[in-house]
Amino acid sequence: MRLSQILFSQGFGTRRLCSGLIQHGEVQVNGEVIDDPDADYEPQGLVFEVSGKTWPYYEKALILLNKPAGYECSQKPKHHPSVMSLLPGPLRERGVQPVGRLDEDTTGLLLLTDDGSLIHKLTNPKHHVPKVYVARCKHPLSDEQVKRLLQGVELREPDAKPHHKPELARAEGAERLDEHLLQLTLIEGKYHQVKRMVAAVGNRVETLHRPRFGALTIPDDLPPGGWCWIASPAQIHA
Ligand code: URA
Repeated sequence: MRLSQILFSQGFGTRRLCSGLIQHGEVQVNGEVIDDPDADYEPQGLVFEVSGKTWPYYEKALILLNKPAGYECSQKPKHHPSVMSLLPGPLRERGVQPVGRLDEDTTGLLLLTDDGSLIHKLTNPKHHVPKVYVARCKHPLSDEQVKRLLQGVELREPDAKPHHKPELARAEGAERLDEHLLQLTLIEGKYHQVKRMVAAVGNRVETLHRPRFGALTIPDDLPPGGWCWIASPAQIHA
């Protein structure tokens, strides 16, 4: 694959811009400046540098973001900046999108990818990818509350019409970590699901964090707002 084509596929701008970066000596492969946009490389496993920053080639991008509070997952954020603003330009340019959503005030593990079929798979409850949440609750957690979350609760949309059937939501796992701290494992991802489930059993979520998505956890050295590559979707199911 031509070097200019590789850069284009990885979000470095139009073909003309990518050729320009190369011709201006901004691109290195194996520590050597390559100024020929037509230089040919096997892209799989290629690591290159653009303006001094290292980029591994990925046909599809899969990114783990340690989401801080104060960012919206929506493409068109209303009140807070988008999580996309935490990513470098080339990742935005190649169209990565959040896999599901975390609320503006929720922190923790958010995946983003430009692989539409992967988004579909990971957000479909049929594929049974467990997501783990830790909620600090306003009131002390009772055994009864934990039991009801495991049995399933009815969730009603705040503006639902009277004839709308409430949705049933069940936690795959529910564990009290301390008097106010609840760990919930969910397979689905309904709108505000944790907050609504906790409200349905008579408590209230004050802060919410997602430490785990499938088999993935946030690397210890990844600060809030930081991101890293996930080399393969297989790591989610490991
Ligand atoms: N459930 C919620 O209520 N909020 C989130 O951000 C994620 C799950």
